[in-house]
Amino acid sequence: MNSTHIFGHAITRKPGRSIVDGLRAADIGTPDLARMLEAHAAYVAALRSTGAEVVELPALEAYPDSVFVEDTMLCLPKVTISMRPGAVSRQGEVAEMMPAVRAFYGEKMREISAPGTIEGGDILVTGREILVGLSARTTRDGISQLTDIAREYGYSTRMVETPDGVLHFKTDCGLLDADTILATPRLAASGCFDGYRVLHVAPEEEAASNCIRFNNLVIMASGFQRTAAMLDAAGYQVVEIENSECAKLDGGMSCLSLRF
Ligand code: GLY
Repeated sequence: MNSTHIFGHAITRKPGRSIVDGLRAADIGTPDLARMLEAHAAYVAALRSTGAEVVELPALEAYPDSVFVEDTMLCLPKVTISMRPGAVSRQGEVAEMMPAVRAFYGEKMREISAPGTIEGGDILVTGREILVGLSARTTRDGISQLTDIAREYGYSTRMVETPDGVLHFKTDCGLLDADTILATPRLAASGCFDGYRVLHVAPEEEAASNCIRFNNLVIMASGFQRTAAMLDAAGYQVVEIENSECAKLDGGMSCLSLRF
């Protein structure tokens, strides 16, 4: 997979008033919708600045976490696979996403079915393979189904572990280019990235790891100056986006878009 960070399209969904009811591991405050909308607009502008077409879907009040669109689909170059979120309150988001994705993929759509569960936040597509983190949201059955589907299209999949207490595999990592990964030391220490070039986030900046590479940009949460400086020194063009409100719901940069 050479096109791991070259994208022509993205799909996002605006947060709605119901965002205050979004899932969270710990209550660190109620998300402020106005601040989240402002940050979301900056995120969409950053995606668009690369020349990509960005579809902005309207808020879905029935689904408080629906701004985190990444968990609903896996968009690969040859096929898109609808996820089956492990969070029951989020399973209805998938059908809501289908029409927007179908507009690009037509009939090249597959699905994960019950009882397996899998969320896009647990999936990292690198230049070599698809890494999938077993987690509280993603089951062995979900990974097995994804592995079988992906194999049909020539992709190899590898199951890895999401650290205990971490929501998603990509909570702790992000792809910088086909062979380079930004990760927390705790995740890299598991050995799951052996053979890759791994850059560590700075100490106490673990939340910086959920970045995305989107065309020429590395888009990361703001407030992590040492990690941003390290990436800049490594030659990456970094754009920082305010993430305080999404962070209250354990969300980050990858969660906010489908990229293909
Ligand atoms: N709040 C995002 C999630 O838990 O799925």
